[in-house]
Amino acid sequence: MSTLAIDNIGLLVTHDPELGTRRDAALVFEDERVIAVTRAGAGAGVDADERIDAGGRCVIPGFVDSHTHLVFAGERGDEFAARMAGAPYAASGIRTTVEATRAASSEQLRALAQARRDEALRAGITHVEVKSGYGLDVEHEQRSCSVAGQLTDDVTFLGAHVVPAQYADRADDYVALVCGDMLAACAPHARWIDVFCERGAFDADQSRAVLQAGRAADLGLRIHANQLGPGPGVQLGVDLGVASADHCTYLSDADVDALAGSDTVATFLPATDFSTREPYPDARRAIDAGVRVAIATNCNPGSSYTTSMAFCIALAVRDMRMTVDEALAAATLGGARALRRDDVGHLGVGARADAVLLDAPSPAHLVYRPGVPLVAMTIARGRPVWAAAGFAAHTPDG
Ligand code: NIG
Repeated sequence: MSTLAIDNIGLLVTHDPELGTRRDAALVFEDERVIAVTRAGAGAGVDADERIDAGGRCVIPGFVDSHTHLVFAGERGDEFAARMAGAPYAASGIRTTVEATRAASSEQLRALAQARRDEALRAGITHVEVKSGYGLDVEHEQRSCSVAGQLTDDVTFLGAHVVPAQYADRADDYVALVCGDMLAACAPHARWIDVFCERGAFDADQSRAVLQAGRAADLGLRIHANQLGPGPGVQLGVDLGVASADHCTYLSDADVDALAGSDTVATFLPATDFSTREPYPDARRAIDAGVRVAIATNCNPGSSYTTSMAFCIALAVRDMRMTVDEALAAATLGGARALRRDDVGHLGVGARADAVLLDAPSPAHLVYRPGVPLVAMTIARGRPVWAAAGFAAHTPDG
C-alpha cells in the first residue's frame, strides 16, 4: 500500500457533485484511488509515503482523451502545409499513413505509439482511448489493436476508417471483410468499434452494417460523424445508441434534437477543425439544447497532430463559445462519459487517482495563456508520472 498527499492546493476542481470546486484543499491518494479530499494543512496529519506541496496552485482531474489514433507510422507535414496553402482535407490521405504503418516493424510501431502516449502524459492526459485504422487488412488491424492494448483498456477497432486502395470500387467487399474476418481477429483486443461515416469513406448503410456487426461481437459502438459536411452519421449513431458521435462539426437542428434526446455524447475535436480549416462547431447551441458533450484531441498524423488538450480547451472556449468550466468538464468528465466510465474524469472519493497540477492559480489560465505549457505535474493511478523542472514529490525524509 502506498499513500500520496497533495497539500496546499489553492483551487481544487473535483467534478464530484458533492465536493465541487474547493479553495485551500488537500487530496489524499492510496494506491490507485482517491481516499480523501480535505482542507489545506490537514494533509500534514496524514501518514503519507510521498507528499506534494502544490504551493497554492490549481489541481484538476487528469484529462480523459476519448478519441485518438496513436498507432501509426510516418507523418504528413507536407499535406498539412499544402492545406494551409489552400488544398482541401480529404479522407483519402489516410491511405498514405496506411502504407507507412504497414511498412513499420511491430517494434517500431510499439515505440512510436508509446512515445505519443508519453507525450500525452506530459500534457496531463491520464486516460486515453486509442483506435486502430491505419492497417486496413486483417493482419495489420489486429497488430494495431494489439499495440493499442499496451497503452489502454479503451481500444477501438476502426477497420472501417477508409476503403483501402486494394478494394477501390469494391467497398462492399471491404465492408464484408471488416464485418467478418477482420472483426473476428480484432474483437478480442478491443472494447469498441467505430466507423468513419462520411462522403469519401463509408455511407449510412455500410456504417450501420459495421456497427451492427460490432454489437453482435459484444463491442461498444462509436461513430465518426458529420466531420466534413452535413450527413447521416449523427442520427444513425443515435438510432443505434452509440456511446459517442465524434466530430459533430456540421450539426443540423434535427441532429441536435436527436443528440439531446439520447445518451450519446457529442465529442468535439476542435484541433481537427483548426488543422483542416473547417468551421468550429457551435457547442453553445448543443449544450443549451441539453446535449452531453466531450472534447478530445483526435491525435493523428492527418487531421490533428496534437496531444495538447489545453490547446483543444482554448479553441473550445475561444471559438466554440464554451465557458472555461464547461470546456474543462468536457475534457475530463465528458471524455469519461463518452467512454461510459465512472472511474475517471473526476476526483471524488473512490475515483482513480489521476490528477494534474497546473502551474497556475485556476483552469482559466489554460485559455488565458494559450500555448504556454502549464502542466507542472501529472499523477496517474496515484503515482507522479511526469513533472516539469522544479516540481517533484517528496518522501517524508526527502
Ligand atoms: O478523426 N476522420 C477520420 N479519421 C481521422 C483522420 C485521419 C487521417 O487523416 O489520417 C479523424 O480526423
